[in-house]
Amino acid sequence: MSKLLKTRYSLYIMKKVIVTGTAGFIGFHLAKKLLNQGYEVIGIDNLNDYYDVRIKEARNKILKKNKNYTFKKINICEYDKLHDECKNHKCDMIVHLAAQAGVRHSIENPHVYGTSNVCGTLNIFEIARQHKIPKVVYASSSSVYGGNKKVPFSEKDNVDMPVSLYAATKKANELKAHAYSHLYGINMTGLRFFTVYGPYGRPDMAAYIFVKNLFENKPIKIFNHGDMERDFTYVDDIVNGIICAMNKDHKCEIFNLGNSRPEKLMDFVGLLEKHCGKKAIKEFHPMQAGDVKKTHACLKKTKEMLEWEPTTNLDEGLKKFVDWYKEYHKIKV
Ligand SMILES: NC(=O)c1ccc[n+]([C@@H]2O[C@H](COP(=O)([O-])OP(=O)(O)OC[C@H]3O[C@@H](n4cnc5c(N)ncnc54)[C@H](O)[C@@H]3O)[C@@H](O)[C@H]2O)c1
Repeated sequence: MSKLLKTRYSLYIMKKVIVTGTAGFIGFHLAKKLLNQGYEVIGIDNLNDYYDVRIKEARNKILKKNKNYTFKKINICEYDKLHDECKNHKCDMIVHLAAQAGVRHSIENPHVYGTSNVCGTLNIFEIARQHKIPKVVYASSSSVYGGNKKVPFSEKDNVDMPVSLYAATKKANELKAHAYSHLYGINMTGLRFFTVYGPYGRPDMAAYIFVKNLFENKPIKIFNHGDMERDFTYVDDIVNGIICAMNKDHKCEIFNLGNSRPEKLMDFVGLLEKHCGKKAIKEFHPMQAGDVKKTHACLKKTKEMLEWEPTTNLDEGLKKFVDWYKEYHKIKV
């Protein structure tokens, strides 16, 4: 079968997808794109208040305009509720994005990472087994690389030394995925996202906090005295990467989804100042527990096996983010 026909064929058979975390940042963008491509999406999210619920509701309201979107408010830790809901649908695939995110939050609040990320993910994998759903694409994280010094980070690198509980739960999920693939023949693809940003982004992440404080003339906290680098990845690129993974049939693989271009924290701040048209009041602080100094994705395997690469540079991505922020918060400058 030609490559084109294969792609068409897989799109045709994969019409109905369960996406967890659709009220979240990445899940929202993914569901929106899948709905636009003609998929039927069953969205699952518990709309928790880890950050302002209004932005989750705003995302969900946009998705609900599409008749092919069904939303179920379910906590993925409640297996029976998931099971009852999934009985009603014959789905081709699960994209599992729901999680308790945030490295820093995990330092003081470990239990929710154990329940939502560890038990919740086990429940989702078990749903795939019980309901004979042949494929799961799930979110992992660049944080699994912990304090690894060798850059760029490759999927072949040892990731046995997480420096946060959040990272430990993401690594645990990769191990569970391997067992599920091995035992039950479910295709499992894990995607290690690298610092995702963009419109409707998370209010607990740097881009959002910095822009908010810039517009409110409040100081921004810069950790490790600015000596940090992040491989920032634009959300549309991440969504395209997830869709590439959905369209492949890898038995059990893990891929980096990053920009493969680490940016200095102070350059990131400089770009935000440029797009906001304001100078930040900077407060310099030491490194925070659980944080890592640098992230940098190696994309060799991803390019070869997922046929994906990012296309948005930080300058244009941050412009889109700031434009969205101003419109969403009705900011006049
Ligand atoms: N944004 C990033 O930079 C980034 C980087 C690496 C990995 N990730 C991973 O990508 C995925 C999506 O992240 P995001 O940035 O969209 O985060 P998000 O917090 O915006 O979205 C996660 C969603 O999951 C939901 N959720 C959490 N616990 C739940 C539970 N027990 N039951 C049902 N729903 C629950 C939340 O309400 C939220 O809407 C997560 O797995 C996250 O760990 C994100």
